[in-house]
Amino acid sequence: MSESSLQTTFADQKRKTVETAEFTADGRYVRKVRSFVLRTGRLSDYQKDAMNRHWSEYGLEYQQTPFDFAKIFGNENPVILEIGFGMGTSLVAMAKNNPDRNYLGIEVHTPGVGACVALAVQEEISNLRLICHDAMEILRDSIADQSLGGLQLFFPDPWPKAKHHKRRIVQPAFIDTIQQKLKCGAFIHMATDWQNYAEHMLETLQNNGKLQNQSATNDYIPRPDFRPLTKFEQRGHRLGHGVWDLYFIYQ
Ligand SMILES: C[S@@+](CC[C@H](N)C(=O)[O-])C[C@H]1O[C@@H](n2cnc3c(N)ncnc32)[C@H](O)[C@@H]1O
Repeated sequence: MSESSLQTTFADQKRKTVETAEFTADGRYVRKVRSFVLRTGRLSDYQKDAMNRHWSEYGLEYQQTPFDFAKIFGNENPVILEIGFGMGTSLVAMAKNNPDRNYLGIEVHTPGVGACVALAVQEEISNLRLICHDAMEILRDSIADQSLGGLQLFFPDPWPKAKHHKRRIVQPAFIDTIQQKLKCGAFIHMATDWQNYAEHMLETLQNNGKLQNQSATNDYIPRPDFRPLTKFEQRGHRLGHGVWDLYFIYQ
């Protein structure tokens, strides 16, 4: 087998394993409401090469028992989880700007994962690990309760049509799960360029009694300069969208 066909196999394999199949007691496949659609898009040779060479350094696989973060990162620094990092530019920038934190990024879009690995290698980042799998399964099975220092969710898929709102990742049950995974004092930082989704995020976060809004006006915070511009945010700017940042502390 040539090197390039081996690389294709690895990337294709990742795409096929972003979620685990579940079956009912009588053996029927359970169709889940997912917050993503697997977009098409091939990994460039550069992204594939980065993934093949460096997945052993940066990649983590879904597992049925919780990760041991101290062992994985080799220190006790807070672990910040980012769900849906896209191409990873802002995640890598944040990891670089905050060497006293560990970053764990989850994304199902394989070209994005490949791009993020390539950038992390280029920037010589060591406080970052990546997972190519459905975040809901990772949260359920692979992340221990009270183990995270923060959660970042930047420009999640807005699912603008009312009939698709159930696919939005931010739901009361999702916030309950996140809250369970956070340590006391940890943060939740979300941003979106869809006003209707921002309002839904605000309501869902505010309905959870243990999360304290850090906004002076009890709604949104001004765009913080520690959050680098993301690809989807740039796209929103081009379309004339506004941006809403939400920042809560779990206590
Ligand atoms: C609109 S994009 C935003 C990407 C990036 N944060 C940005 O601002 O450029 C949302 C991303 O979330 C990812 N995503 C959605 N649901 C996910 C899930 N359950 N697990 C992992 N990734 C998910 C999608 O694949 C997509 O790349």
